[in-house]
Amino acid sequence: MTDHNEILLIGHDNPAVRKLAGQVQGHGYAPILLPFGDEARLRVGSPTVGMVIISLQPGNEALEWIREINFLHRGLPVLAAAVQGSVTEAREAIGVGAADYLLLPIEEELLKNHLANYASRYFDPELGSGRRLISSDANMKRLLNQIRRVGKSQATVLIQGESGTGKELIARFVHQVSDRSSQAFVALNCAALPENLLESELFGHSKGAFTGAITDRKGKFLQANGGTIFLDEISEMTLNLQAKLLRVLQEREVDPVGGRGAVPLDVRVVASTNRDLKEWAEDGKFREDLYYRLNVFPVSLPPLRKRPGDILLLANHFRKRFIIELGRNDIPFSPSALSAMEGYPWPGNIRELENVIQRALLMAEGRVIEPDDLMIDFEPSDNESGPAPFSSHSAAVHGDNAEAIRLPIGTTVREMEEILIHRTLDEVNGNRTRAAELLGISIRTLRNKLNEYATR
Ligand SMILES: Nc1ncnc2c1ncn2[C@@H]1O[C@H](COP(=O)(O)OP(=O)(O)OP(=O)(O)O)[C@@H](O)[C@H]1O
Ligand SMILES: [Mg+2]
Repeated sequence: MTDHNEILLIGHDNPAVRKLAGQVQGHGYAPILLPFGDEARLRVGSPTVGMVIISLQPGNEALEWIREINFLHRGLPVLAAAVQGSVTEAREAIGVGAADYLLLPIEEELLKNHLANYASRYFDPELGSGRRLISSDANMKRLLNQIRRVGKSQATVLIQGESGTGKELIARFVHQVSDRSSQAFVALNCAALPENLLESELFGHSKGAFTGAITDRKGKFLQANGGTIFLDEISEMTLNLQAKLLRVLQEREVDPVGGRGAVPLDVRVVASTNRDLKEWAEDGKFREDLYYRLNVFPVSLPPLRKRPGDILLLANHFRKRFIIELGRNDIPFSPSALSAMEGYPWPGNIRELENVIQRALLMAEGRVIEPDDLMIDFEPSDNESGPAPFSSHSAAVHGDNAEAIRLPIGTTVREMEEILIHRTLDEVNGNRTRAAELLGISIRTLRNKLNEYATR
């Protein structure tokens, strides 16, 4: 990271900015002062630049620069610097994509924090299918660094966190930093299927093993062989299946139902849950021995309200992504929309934030996104206790029909659709014509939806 230690300070020359340059140097970075213009534009693209600070002044030029750098050099942190008093202007800068703002003159301690947070670059790894992991929160960074370290080992990882905190993204991150990253990453949601289907989904079965087993089926464990298996919502597995899983993990081999014998396994296991699994184990709802076997490297993801610095960073990330996806003109947040988002407790965490931004971009009719477009209940809520540490997603309805799909409350309609489509395809062995028929949609629609899921 030390190869990014240049910091560009762009704007009209003034004593406050020159003083800032001196401070930046004092913290071990190389400040480069440039006026708005072509040279600055050229330097921004240099790989040695770790951060850009744009100095704000009346007029639109500075905001235009922030907007432009954000679009052309994504991932490069742009901060806005303002002389004391112009907080509104500084917030406007965030509205167009600045990661944060500095009020000049700035105290050494505060500047040091900003430099540590941003100049060392926030984590922005590409996790496949266009997903990125973004955070400037110090605890998250520490966590990600730990994962980078244990990532290389075989250690089983147990990710706990409220719904929407990024558990699946972290599971992909674990895979990506491991030396298995070129092998398969196979995810399975343990809450989505009834026991018997989940069992054959996990371990596979051979043709004729039971009625309906019309072909051999390679289970997810074998599909993940050499790579990583992600067991999502592990708490929803029945005690009976937990016992089978434990055996597979102990013996490191899998024996497909009705199969011809055990197959050796080399699979990294990552599991996730939004329950307090330890408590579940104590209450006898989850096997204690399995809990200890999974909990080798525990990762506890903080809810969004515990990493307030990430709210606007992520809001801008999603805003930019949806502007591109929806093909609409750039539309910034109004300062009051920014305050509303900062003050809201985000019980549905990052997933909720993502949905709110998408909806806001569909709704917004003005030139900026206003608090009303967000449709969140934004009374400055100082709810001390906050929601329960692990939201009680209830395991929902499921019939005893083998074809039933069990969906936890909290599943979005969009996810439900995706699950249904994939399950239907599985049932008809990938025959799209047949699946489209069963789903009551055209093959073309089916194809479009599958493409959409693949690029999400
Ligand atoms: N740090 C992050 N940076 C960018 N996007 C994120 C981040 N964390 C989560 N997201 C996005 O937020 C959404 C929810 O994340 P994810 O599905 O990983 O959470 P989860 O904890 O598995 O949620 P759930 O409990 O609802 O299954 C996803 O669209 C994901 O891409
Ligand atoms: Mg999830």
